[in-house]
Amino acid sequence: MHSLRQSYEAHGQGHVFRHFDTLDAAGQAELIRQAGEIDLDEVDHLFDTLVRHPGAGNDAIAEGLSPAEFIPLPDRGGDAARWAEAAAAGEAALRAGRVAAFTVAGGQGTRLGFDGPKGTFPVTPVRHASLFQVFAEKIAAAGERYGRAVPWFIMTSTINHADTVAFFEANGHFGLDPEQVHFFSQGLMPAVDGDGRILMSGPGEIALSPDGHGGSLRALVRSGAVATMEAAGIDLISYFQVDNPLVRCIDPAFIGFHLLGGSELSSKALPKAYPEEKVGIFCRDAAGRDVVIEYSDMPDRLTHERDADGQLRFRAGSIAIHLFDRDFVKRLGTGGDASVALPFHRAHKKVPHVDGTGARVEPTEPNGWKFEMFVFDALPFAKNPVIIETAREDDFSPVKNASGNDSPQTSRDDQLRQYARWAKAAGIDLATDGTGLPTVAFEVTPRFADTTERFVAAWRALADPPAIGEGTIL
Ligand code: UD1
Repeated sequence: MHSLRQSYEAHGQGHVFRHFDTLDAAGQAELIRQAGEIDLDEVDHLFDTLVRHPGAGNDAIAEGLSPAEFIPLPDRGGDAARWAEAAAAGEAALRAGRVAAFTVAGGQGTRLGFDGPKGTFPVTPVRHASLFQVFAEKIAAAGERYGRAVPWFIMTSTINHADTVAFFEANGHFGLDPEQVHFFSQGLMPAVDGDGRILMSGPGEIALSPDGHGGSLRALVRSGAVATMEAAGIDLISYFQVDNPLVRCIDPAFIGFHLLGGSELSSKALPKAYPEEKVGIFCRDAAGRDVVIEYSDMPDRLTHERDADGQLRFRAGSIAIHLFDRDFVKRLGTGGDASVALPFHRAHKKVPHVDGTGARVEPTEPNGWKFEMFVFDALPFAKNPVIIETAREDDFSPVKNASGNDSPQTSRDDQLRQYARWAKAAGIDLATDGTGLPTVAFEVTPRFADTTERFVAAWRALADPPAIGEGTIL
């Protein structure tokens, strides 16, 4: 304890222990635990390089940018035989039990205004199944199809870990074997004020927040998840965010392209819906490496630039769906090698805290700096990165905002449009509006079907197919 406190003093952070003597034994132990986990040199370095002396940063990076190349879908100029070959390779990997699903669910979900882990948010049109349930059912379906259960790793943060685990327990893990579902918490970073001093959220509590989804690489290693995978013969990690119910959690063609390309990190791209859409953009940097530039860092000029044929020049949006090689995660997540460390980004946020007298302050303006890593910053470190195109309507309709774009309403409608496309492909007579939205709300569970082909086959196999109407659940 003595040396911990001294080290805080030496770093100009002695105030963290200002109220230490007034805490009870449990409070003191907790503060020591929190303080012991912070790398003070790292905090100093981040404040110095990102806040005090921010470099030319993204403006400089943007200078040499060109659009990244990606493998187009067969119906958009891609090679159908190659896609079939990739799907076969992916299926073989799934049958060999080489694939795990991985969901990052440690975020605070403030934009949605939902009080609880985002994965527990109800999203489907009829059953009002949660995001977690949708993923669980897709993962279960893949396990049944390929004859090997797909382990599922879920990254939480201390803020939502207990509630997340309790939700799975209360729902019988949605039919999955509890042994198949692995939870672990991501790392935390302290928020600092404009002078680089660590903010306290209580007299004995440091203002900590999750270290970004890029922290998942460290957390996968530290939690033992990578070792668990290694022991189980899993070398492919199918990564997706908690907010997107349309995601194909397990996608054989994607897995296959990753394998055929000898890639360490593969990603899915889709054309942006409109220039300002809030998605990262796949670019090639001046050094010839593929990178994702976050929408907020893209210079306006490039966001709006168009090709001769009128298409957006930088149109390949990142929808945060990736395939990681396990050993690549191990290399980046183990630390110690600064040449392959993910950079941190800064964010200026309102951070409630206590002042020197112990009085609570609820800021009305941003007062604190938070530091986060982004998982897509791993891309330039990966050998042979592969980017494939995907169809928005089959992979991406996230729930991010309470209303408007990317909201529960738009996501529900996109799910209904997908069911309607499947139904029509099976020859079902169904009324839809001009956007393909059916006039009745029905639901297709992932266990019934999760692709057009499987829907058609499952529908034709029904001895007595129901009439599809309001509230039908297949
Ligand atoms: C993100 C991507 C953006 C991408 C878009 C696609 C970033 C910075 N940007 O934007 O490039 O086009 O998704 O939907 O990510 N999370 C954690 N721990 C954290 C922070 C976040 O697990 O510390 C998880 C969240 O639970 C969520 C996901 O990461 O599943 C996305 O985080 P969010 O902050 O909502 O990113 P977006 O701004 O939506």
